[in-house]
Amino acid sequence: MVHVNSNYLKLKAGYLFPEIARRVNAFTAKSTNLPLIRLGIGDVTEPLPKACRDAMKLAIDEMGTHNGFHGYGPEQGYAWLREVIAKEDFQSRGCEVSAEEIFVSDGSKCDSSNILDILGERNKIAVTDPVYPVYVDSNVMAGRTGDAAGHGRYEELIYLPINADNGFEAQIPTEKVDLIYLCYPNNPTGAVATKDQLQNWVNYANENRALILFDAAYEAFIQDKDLPHSIFEIEGARTCAIEFRSFSKNAGFTGIRCAYTIIPKTLYGQSSNEKIDLWGLWNRRQSTKFNGVNYVVQRGAQAVYSSEGKSQIASLVDFYMKNASIIRRELLAAGLTVYGGKHAPYVWIKTPSGIDSWAFFDQLLEKAYVVGTPGSGFGYAGEGYFRLSAFNSRENVITAMNRISSL
Ligand code: MLT
Repeated sequence: MVHVNSNYLKLKAGYLFPEIARRVNAFTAKSTNLPLIRLGIGDVTEPLPKACRDAMKLAIDEMGTHNGFHGYGPEQGYAWLREVIAKEDFQSRGCEVSAEEIFVSDGSKCDSSNILDILGERNKIAVTDPVYPVYVDSNVMAGRTGDAAGHGRYEELIYLPINADNGFEAQIPTEKVDLIYLCYPNNPTGAVATKDQLQNWVNYANENRALILFDAAYEAFIQDKDLPHSIFEIEGARTCAIEFRSFSKNAGFTGIRCAYTIIPKTLYGQSSNEKIDLWGLWNRRQSTKFNGVNYVVQRGAQAVYSSEGKSQIASLVDFYMKNASIIRRELLAAGLTVYGGKHAPYVWIKTPSGIDSWAFFDQLLEKAYVVGTPGSGFGYAGEGYFRLSAFNSRENVITAMNRISSL
């Protein structure tokens, strides 16, 4: 009989969002026709921007001609997309990132997991707690952790708690770690990092020859012009960081699938004391295991940077951020303690005293027909918190808030 990857057997629960869907389905199967409002998974709801749709329609028509047909594209993405990303997302903000350092992909979730392919097995890994569960589960699957250690934690991982007491700011570890996952604006807490805070991480990483995996999937939601959108705005990041970016949340591409990862050519790891460049390894990995994002979708992503695209995307972000401010305002008025939601599409709520995260989930589901995400699903230190996403229609957000307020 074939041997399985027994690392998978260490996983304690199903992946968080399918697990929530399972519980919601079980509830709706008992109680028919409930007008449920889903503020759980951070999936966008507004239609695709017109600029992107138009570009994709044109591209599909091109594909129907001999001259415009495209077969396999470059595994790293088309040069015209990589160039516009480098210019608009980085060089315009003073960051030294070249088109060649951008690898277009089908999602940040995939990239943040696949990156483990090029990293060694003996790295000491730090994650925040709570954390986007993909970082932990992908390490478990790849055998980079020990066994389950109780409370949803795993042996050998280093957990950096983020909570109200430390202002949801992960503290720099006192020990030496090799790999650090950071996500700002933060999923799930909605916290943001200042330049000074990121500078401390970059200094730590360079001093300890560590690598930061920086997830900036929510950067478009930052409202304050002084907050950094990229780790590459920070001096020294080019020798210690990889960044993940996505078109999912700003341009509504969750169903279309397009993202990108930046690996500076100045970034090195080691193998038996030999210095190895990570760009080269990732390029090798992508050319072997990935055939690139399809042409039509890359044309849609390129349209994000047209003047119409930029303004349509700004309206989408404003729309969701207005939802976030309604959620914050109404929950505060209802007497709850809330965090986040100012530079991120997630509002992080302290559950009322004596009610744990899953009990609060059940209460909102059963009494308000509102689906959220229990904080404990993001890690042990998320217990006692609850996440609501701002991705829904205005009407649904207002109705959900009315229902919660009247509980
Ligand atoms: C979330 O709800 O945390 C997001 O949907 C995560 C993701 O984008 O995969």
